This record gives sequence, C-alpha cells and structure tokens, in this order.
Amino acid sequence: MRQSTFRLDDMAKVVSLSKRRGLIYPSSEIYGGFANSWDYGPLGVLLKENIKAAWMRAMVQDRDDVVPIDSSIILAPRVWEASGHLKHFTDPLVDCKVCHKRWRADELNDGRCPACGGEVTDARPFNLMFKTFIGPVEDEAAVAYLRPETAQGIFINFKSIMTTYRLRPPFGIAQLGKSFRNEITPGNFIFRTREFEQMEMEFFVLPGTAAEWLDYWVKERKAWYERLGLRSDNLRLREHTEEERAHYSRGTFDIEYRFPWDWGELEGIADRGDYDLGQHEEHSGEDLRYYDEATKQHIRPEVIEPAAGATRATLAFLADAYDEEPDGEETRVVLRLHPALAPITAAILPLQRKPELVNLAKEIRSTVRKRHMTQYDETGSIGRRYRRQDEIGTPYCITPDFQSLEDSTVTVRDRDSMTQERIPINDLTNWLEARIDNGTLGAPPPDPRGAEPPDPRTSFSDPRAETDRPSA
Ligand code: GAP
Repeated sequence: MRQSTFRLDDMAKVVSLSKRRGLIYPSSEIYGGFANSWDYGPLGVLLKENIKAAWMRAMVQDRDDVVPIDSSIILAPRVWEASGHLKHFTDPLVDCKVCHKRWRADELNDGRCPACGGEVTDARPFNLMFKTFIGPVEDEAAVAYLRPETAQGIFINFKSIMTTYRLRPPFGIAQLGKSFRNEITPGNFIFRTREFEQMEMEFFVLPGTAAEWLDYWVKERKAWYERLGLRSDNLRLREHTEEERAHYSRGTFDIEYRFPWDWGELEGIADRGDYDLGQHEEHSGEDLRYYDEATKQHIRPEVIEPAAGATRATLAFLADAYDEEPDGEETRVVLRLHPALAPITAAILPLQRKPELVNLAKEIRSTVRKRHMTQYDETGSIGRRYRRQDEIGTPYCITPDFQSLEDSTVTVRDRDSMTQERIPINDLTNWLEARIDNGTLGAPPPDPRGAEPPDPRTSFSDPRAETDRPSA
C-alpha cells in the first residue's frame, strides 16, 4: 500500500506531529513534565487500540488455537522468585566518575562515558523490577512488584485454562497489557519507557517440536507487521547471541525495525523450553504437566513466545507511515497508515456550509459512525480540510456536494492517491468495511485440535489456505 520511498530520519517530526495533532503528549506538562513519560491523546489512544485490536484479531480471533487472558499486574511475589526475575532480571549499571551520569554497560563508548568520555565505575547488576508495598505497613513481608512482562500471568494460569477449555498442545494463550521496568536509560520518545504496553503470547507445544514452531512464529509475526503496512526494507530478523539471550531462552530472534535513529527491537520471539512451567512446578508444588492419552505419558509442554510491545509498535507504525511530499509552495504531510490502524477511518466534510449540505453530512455521519470512527469538519476550504485529515492518517474523506442532493451519492477521496470516487450513500459503510478488512488482517490458523497435529512447516507455507481444517 506504500507509495512513497520517503525515509524519515528526523524523529523530531514525529514527536512534533504527535503533540500538535493530539496523538502523544509529554506527561505531567503543567508541572514541568516528568521525564520519559508520555500520555496518549485522543488520536493516540485510537491508533494504539487499533494496533492492539489487529494483534488480537490475528492472534486470537482468526485462529482456532489461541485463547486470551487478562491477569493481574501485581502477582504473588513468589511468581517472580520462580520465574527468575528477582535474581536475573538485571541490567549492568555503571556510573560516570566525572559527570555522574548512569549508563547500561553495553551503551559505553570504548568503556568510557558516552556523555563526557570520563572513566566509569565497575558494572553492577541493577534489578529492573518496580517494587511496591501491599497494605499499610512498608516492611519486607509487604513487598510486591509491578509485572515486568505479561508472560508470567499466562504461565501461572496455564493449567486452569488448559483444563477449563480442554485444550491440548499445540495451543497458545495471549495477553496484552501494561508492564513496568525501571529502565536505566529510557528514551527515544516512546521506544523505551518505564511504563509500557506489551502484546505477548505463550504457545505451548509438544517437546521435540519447538524448533519448527519457533520458525513458524518468527515468519508469521514478521508477516503481520508487513501485512499492516510496515515496509519490508525497514524490517529485519536478528538472532540473539548466546551471551545476550535472556535467562529463560534456548534461542531468540528479534524482529527489528529501522527506527529513525537506528535498528531496534520491535518484538522478540523466544524458545523458552519448559523453563517457566518447570520453575513454577518447583516453587508452587503444583504438577503442571498433563496426561496424554495417546502416549500414556505425563507431558510438560515447551513454549514458543512471540513478545511484542504495543507502545513500541505504535512508534514504528507512526514513523513508517510519516510521509512528506511537495504540494505547490507547501509540503503535504501524510500519515500513510493502514486503514485498519488509522485513528479516524472517515472524515465527513460537507463541500460548503449550506444548511442542506450540512444536514446531509450529519445524517451520513450518524450512519457511518455506527461502525467506524469518524470526524466531522465544516471549517475552512475543502483543500485545507483534506490536509488536516492527511496529517492524522484518515484514509477516506466523504464529501456531500450539490449532486448528492439529487442522486444520493458522495465523493470519497483517497488519502494516498488523492483520487475521488462517487459512491452511493447507502453503500458507504460496506465500502469502507471492505477497504479496512482487505484480507491483510487475518492470520493462518493451524488447528491444534484436529485429528492430526499440524505440521507447522506445511501450515506456514500457505497460511491462508488452512481455513478448512476440521475442529474437534
Ligand atoms: N516476555 C518476554 C519479554 O518481555 P522483551 O524482549 O523484554 O521480552 C518484549 O519484551 C517486547 O516488549 C519488546 O520487543 C518491546 O517491544 C517491548 N518492550 C520491552 N521493554 C520495553 C520498554 N522499556 N519500553 C517500551 N517497550 C518495551
């Protein structure tokens, strides 16, 4: 869908557009701001919610083998002991002996402070978990943690979900929600913040099949970003070296995006083996295996985890969609977002402020808004109004004009091509629907409960041909 090869190198433009048009604001501004905290304005909320909805659609709604969950943010502290986060979830922290700035050891320039070149202290592990207290007494017994990942809420509910829903591997549990990390060096707008949103799915597989499923999910997740419009040349895969792998991982691939400043992780897909279920068994004393009738064995599944950031994805979709092109003496700024992600799907712009056109426009809006997010605008020239919508990524502008009063059609102007089509007013809702869900949102669904366990290698080869699999 992208028509432009414009490459955004200036992050300031995205930050400024975000503030100017109410997508993302610096937080606590009336108190002088609060570093690295951001608040999502009306259009930012819509964009982020659309990204999360597209993820839910691909990961849950269009598949037979993944179910959702929403667990607590503050879990029993023993969860984090078992998961290894209390011990291992650390970054190596150094202090500059000259300017006293703090850095992650991996950010140094030749072992020296990136800000002033000064000597730094030896690295010491710094735990990224946010601590809090439950109840009125602030002692050790009351310590609890804000979750640093949504994943553990899935592992501790694995057995209940598998039993309640009579699921058997391969199947997945998906969760999206806020996570918190006391990052040493947050920054780059919403790329790295201390409070952020994740979209994670734990996919439980039979021992011995993890490698194939890892391959499947790496390809499927990369394809998801591409289907939603991220340019392929701004995406790449990178395998973690043994040293950088998380404590739970047997193998990890990052999907990286070429952010305006550099390549950066967008999503990690890890083979967590049976580390988490094994740890929770050991610490809780609960048997988290299931009895497999076919093999007459107790099985502890292994796990493939595609772990994405919803707020980080919001930045990638924004940066990738940002475009500028000459417009006479001026510059047209366009957010070329996929229609399913655009905060506003359709703007209703009466050609003139004449009562008969205004009334018709409001009538059209009241119908279209039942299924789509809309904006109504009657101020300024039609050209200016189109530009205002281009800047926030509205893919379609609907304009009732004098012909509309006679033949009940309107012009619909396309954001990217700027071409206009006449569409019968009665067809508008379906016309928009077909363009939003244009076959790019769905997901390939191998069904784990079919008679035969799916082979991920063949199910990936033509994902969309898999829709006829029998369900149990
Ligand atoms: N459960 C595994 C896990 O949490 P991760 O690679 O640490 O893996 C997954 O995090 C994703 O969460 C990242 O790829 C990134 O998109 C997002 N993420 C992690 N830390 C973040 C932060 N401080 N700010 C914004 N997004 C973050």
